[in-house]
Amino acid sequence: MPRVLPALEPESIALAARLLRAGELVAFPTETVYGLGARALDPVHTARIFAAKGRPTTHPLIAHVDGPAMARELVASWGPAAEALAAAFWPGPLTLVLERASHVPSGVAGGGTSIAVRVPGHPCALALIRALGEPIAAPSANRYQGLSPTLAAHVVRSLGDAVALVLDGGPCEAGVESTVVDLRSPIARVLRPGAVPLDALAAVWPVTRAEGPQLAAGERASPGLDAKHYAPRARLLLCARGTLGAQVADQLARGVDAVGALVTEGSSSPPGARLERLDATPTGYAHGLFAALHRLDEAGVSVVLAEAVPDTDAWAAVRDRLTRAASL
Ligand code: TXA
Ligand code: MG
Repeated sequence: MPRVLPALEPESIALAARLLRAGELVAFPTETVYGLGARALDPVHTARIFAAKGRPTTHPLIAHVDGPAMARELVASWGPAAEALAAAFWPGPLTLVLERASHVPSGVAGGGTSIAVRVPGHPCALALIRALGEPIAAPSANRYQGLSPTLAAHVVRSLGDAVALVLDGGPCEAGVESTVVDLRSPIARVLRPGAVPLDALAAVWPVTRAEGPQLAAGERASPGLDAKHYAPRARLLLCARGTLGAQVADQLARGVDAVGALVTEGSSSPPGARLERLDATPTGYAHGLFAALHRLDEAGVSVVLAEAVPDTDAWAAVRDRLTRAASL
């Protein structure tokens, strides 16, 4: 099992930076989810991230930097959109995709010509980047297509010895990943809804978002592959509002013996299901979502029923994660 140390102790940060320099993987808390870090500018080190996650090497990683100055060193050009969005949301859960500078290895970029950059809004993540003095590539610290980790224990369970050290900062505040915005074309485009809501972005810079869940470059789901490679985990089914009780009864009638359900505060409790109650606000729901799904997985339920969330922009990140989880 990996070492687990308190995230904010100076000795933890110093050890983590030493391990990163030596090419080891270190998991650390961010304000969104836990990240699996390696030196972003060393393709041998980033290759270890892909191997540990079981993630295709064509899926680009986010380079975590300590401020706009370090971000600018990684990109070919830094325009007014990047300037405005970085000033408004960094440090924070916003990832910007820009053309990659020619000196940045293609490994971190999944072989593509762009690079994703973000300044995390968590003191541990920032301290670690500063201690290392260079960008840290970090996807969510889970096996490919698994649930994102919002607790150190989730990382340990998912990655085990593939990670040398886990910095434990307790539960992640947002609980859902960063919003990813592509700035390569004249119109900024949201590739992944996340912890920065769309209206907050739009108040700073015009952004577009196509309907439905957005899969970023190279992130097409491969359901068959997923089922073959991973231990069984619950199947998530989305149901229309007001039908949860009936759907639970239906699953039980079919002989499914362990049914889990995600319900919001204030809604009724369907009998016979193992319940996880989530806050009824979009930020509260997002904060608790992955931890609730981890607990249901641990409890061994084979089906999780979740009521569809409102079809509004404020719920876009939660809706996206539920829809993706339901499609696997
Ligand atoms: O909140 C977060 O963003 C977390 C924490 C650890 O920072 N990280 C994270 O990384 O969620 P990951 O690898 O699990 O998801 C990164 C997302 C993926 O949808 C990926 O396709 C997209 O960002 N992405 C990364 N680099 C990209 C690029 N160059 N072009 C387009 N999309 C990119
Ligand atoms: Mg991820």
